[in-house]
Amino acid sequence: MDTGSLIEAALDVRLKAFAPFSKFLVGAALESNDGRVFTGCNVENATYGLTVCAERVAVFKAVSEGVHTGFARIVIAAEPDTLTPPCGACRQILWEFCRDIEIILVNPRGKSETMKLSQLFPRPFDASFI
Ligand code: THU
Repeated sequence: MDTGSLIEAALDVRLKAFAPFSKFLVGAALESNDGRVFTGCNVENATYGLTVCAERVAVFKAVSEGVHTGFARIVIAAEPDTLTPPCGACRQILWEFCRDIEIILVNPRGKSETMKLSQLFPRPFDASFI
């Protein structure tokens, strides 16, 4: 998929976020090497702590569809001009399933920034330590 379409998928799914508490809408579009796209939005809960971020919803959707390895890139869409990076928990989950994936942060006004997960998460824990 071309980058513009992947960004559009993340911006579109962002509008489906269930975020009545924070009102902070986040969308993610995760692309696998074979060109499939798994989208996710944040899903909040009245207990707050059970909230699941958009990135984890996208990864878990992929896993539940039988894809748990071989991811190319993920677009993360949120509103602010200071582009929103994945939280610590999501960095860990992304490392587990996507290794050093390309991350594209975007907002609805066309701002974007591309980086590798290892830049945000330089010394990850994973199964190789167990
Ligand atoms: N959130 C995400 O979905 N992804 C991020 O990268 C940062 C935070 C969500 C969780 C919560 O629903 C809201 O944004 C405010 O923290």
